[in-house]
Amino acid sequence: MSSDNLLTDTPELYELRFPDPGHLAARWAESVLRTHAAGPRVLDVGCGTGRDAAWLHTEAGRRVTGIDTSEAMLAHARTAHPGPEYLRADMRDFDLGRRFDAALCLDSALLYCHTNDDLDAFLTRCRRHLVPGGLLVAELRNGAYFLGRTDLLDAPRTDTVTHGGVTRTSRTTLSLDRAAQLLRRERTWTADDGSPPLTQRSAWRLLFPQELRYVLAAHGFAVLALYDRPGPRTGPAWREGDAPAATADADRLHLIARLDGTSTP
Ligand SMILES: C[S@@+](CC[C@H](N)C(=O)[O-])C[C@H]1O[C@@H](n2cnc3c(N)ncnc32)[C@H](O)[C@@H]1O
Repeated sequence: MSSDNLLTDTPELYELRFPDPGHLAARWAESVLRTHAAGPRVLDVGCGTGRDAAWLHTEAGRRVTGIDTSEAMLAHARTAHPGPEYLRADMRDFDLGRRFDAALCLDSALLYCHTNDDLDAFLTRCRRHLVPGGLLVAELRNGAYFLGRTDLLDAPRTDTVTHGGVTRTSRTTLSLDRAAQLLRRERTWTADDGSPPLTQRSAWRLLFPQELRYVLAAHGFAVLALYDRPGPRTGPAWREGDAPAATADADRLHLIARLDGTSTP
């Protein structure tokens, strides 16, 4: 899952390509945790570079554990964003032997659960690692956005980033695999250092709001909120004090769910 991905394998490049200098994602997550009175123990699932985990740990005073499948991301997190405990674990199959007050899954990490079995496995793991009444907070692409809209599919997107003296350009094309409910991504990198072009393929599961509600209920979670804006990656972006919209139509979803109070499996 984590190999053959230039961005995941080069965390510095990832942070340059997807900057979050104001720690908006972590601030949004902290605001959600505070609003819903979550305790201090937080599990960041698919923690990536560790920048959110570290902010929550050092600035918000939480006790954070981050898990990810990418050794490169974890190595970067331990040196660039110290504080939290970082462990290599697959979100579909982990056993840390303890429980948390909240689990976070930010920037569509949840959508690496491609199949229903993956989703079931992830939610089973979450349930096993949350205290009764624990929170699951996720921020992800919204499958429903693609119903009747093609703007993200019509033309490739080009981005340029310079790292280590090398300027790289990525050309990203998205396409739908409707039967599998996957948004497939093909990204071709070119660089000004003479290295050959590199094409990489990946995919996100397309999850729909009602489908999410259904699967969460099946795993003992009550959905407290599921809305499209504002969030750390919406335009306009979330600001402290903003209230969630009553809609789930735009390209991002923000999910806040609570595990039932008696759950112990
Ligand atoms: C888009 S990045 C998001 C990183 C981080 N949450 C953030 O918001 O910056 C997705 C992360 O999920 C990790 N990942 C992908 N599949 C995974 C899996 N099965 N279990 C755990 N982590 C996974 C990747 O290695 C990557 O670091």
